[in-house]
Amino acid sequence: MNAHPVDDAKPVYEPLLELVVQACKHWSTDFPAQFYPALDTCSDNWIELRDTSQPAQLRCRAIATRVLDKLDTVSTQEKKVFAPLIKALTNCHTSLYWEQSYTRQDGVVSDIMLEGYTFAELVGSCGPAFSKQIRIGFGLWDAGIHYPQHAHLAEEVYCVLDGTATFTVGSSTVTASAGQAVYVPHNEPHSFITRSSPLLIMYLWQGGDLRQKSVFNADTTTQESETAGHQP
Ligand SMILES: [Fe+2]
Repeated sequence: MNAHPVDDAKPVYEPLLELVVQACKHWSTDFPAQFYPALDTCSDNWIELRDTSQPAQLRCRAIATRVLDKLDTVSTQEKKVFAPLIKALTNCHTSLYWEQSYTRQDGVVSDIMLEGYTFAELVGSCGPAFSKQIRIGFGLWDAGIHYPQHAHLAEEVYCVLDGTATFTVGSSTVTASAGQAVYVPHNEPHSFITRSSPLLIMYLWQGGDLRQKSVFNADTTTQESETAGHQP
């Protein structure tokens, strides 16, 4: 099955991207303002949708569906703000390209994580909104998953849309819930663990190889980036 034509992408994902940009720009003061210029450019160019019918994508999509279904539906103030965004994501999630960067053979993340996490990009070098400046996507982690320490050249911000996780960035540890953003500087080792409920985040990268495969337990200054994968 071939990828879908480029004309399919914009009408499906532009409303979702508009909600993403709005959410970032009206985030709390912990959202790093240096991401704003790239946010202003990321809806201009749409590219051909990737083929989501492969077994790996179907498997990851099933994880996404399962974890989205488990999100807490209690209506907090933050969730009222994010509700349209989460609803738009849920409505179109079956057509997104859900993936994982690592396999069991890589030995860098646990089997529990491989069974309970996935991510899909909305903006980046693989589209559907094309950008070489910024990468934006959604990540889902089931409850009780440890995403081990890793690093990459790009600076990153995790925006928590639902759930709670404890993030360690460098020597700092913070527990963040819906409405909070966690900033990760260039090359800073970071990790997180989800709590008793699933986690939905948006992640944004800029200022580095947007296809870099994260380096685990690493001195990031001495290792070359790999481009085969692209884990948030
Ligand atoms: Fe990261």
